[in-house]
Amino acid sequence: MNKFFEFYYSSVGKKQIVAATGLFLILFVIAHLAGNLFIYGGPSVFNGYAEKLAHLRPGLYLLEFGLLLIFLIHLFVTAQLVWENWQARPQRYATYKPSEERSLSAKLMSYTGTLIFAFVVWHILDFTFADHVGPRSILSDGLSYGLYGIVINSFSNPTHSALYILAMIAVGMHLSHGIQSFFQTFGVNHPRYTIAIRKTSNFLGTLIAIGYSTIPIYVLINNFRG
Ligand code: HEM
Repeated sequence: MNKFFEFYYSSVGKKQIVAATGLFLILFVIAHLAGNLFIYGGPSVFNGYAEKLAHLRPGLYLLEFGLLLIFLIHLFVTAQLVWENWQARPQRYATYKPSEERSLSAKLMSYTGTLIFAFVVWHILDFTFADHVGPRSILSDGLSYGLYGIVINSFSNPTHSALYILAMIAVGMHLSHGIQSFFQTFGVNHPRYTIAIRKTSNFLGTLIAIGYSTIPIYVLINNFRG
């Protein structure tokens, strides 16, 4: 059999594909958070950043296509692993780990993953495909503030903000367990490192969830629309 298919058909191979694609997605989430924090610089800083990114086209389309592909591979291969585990259930009872040993983030991986998928679809329709100079970009002074205005108007709605914060918590939890799984999949599970990896990944997940959530909270507190 072709070496690639041999690798792919093994459960370890699939886990490594999920872990490697997950790592790229984590890097995107960190970079995207860093970019979003430009919102604190005001409309010209945030829109200036968005325009700089837009100027990278058509090269940026390639990056976006790569990101989409990685995202889809991550979902597809994970779904296959879940299906295989489900099918192999009776044999797995011998090595069954009591659920108390697993963290909440680990137990909720499928749920947070599904929530993130739904969120990303909604988020892209919400921001990327929004009319950047349309009514949603207009603030209380009657002027269009582009993408900045869209973000401010969206988060001025408490329900909109609450849904985003819920998704950010899911992202933080998914990442914190994802990072731990990454190291385990690639064989780093020596007791000396396990605790340090767990603490660091929980810290990173929390930091990412809080970092993103500060944006809707900041908008709600400042009540920009007046
Ligand atoms: C407070 C939280 C967030 C804010 C304010 C925000 C903001 C934005 C904005 C303004 C865009 C549109 C960029 C453009 O059209 O030029 C965008 C695109 C996007 N966001 Fe977010 N985002 C947030 C959270 C997230 C999270 C947590 C994820 C991933 C789990 C994510 C994934 C994406 C993706 C995949 C795109 C499309 C990329 C592209 O258009 O090139 N975002 N985001």
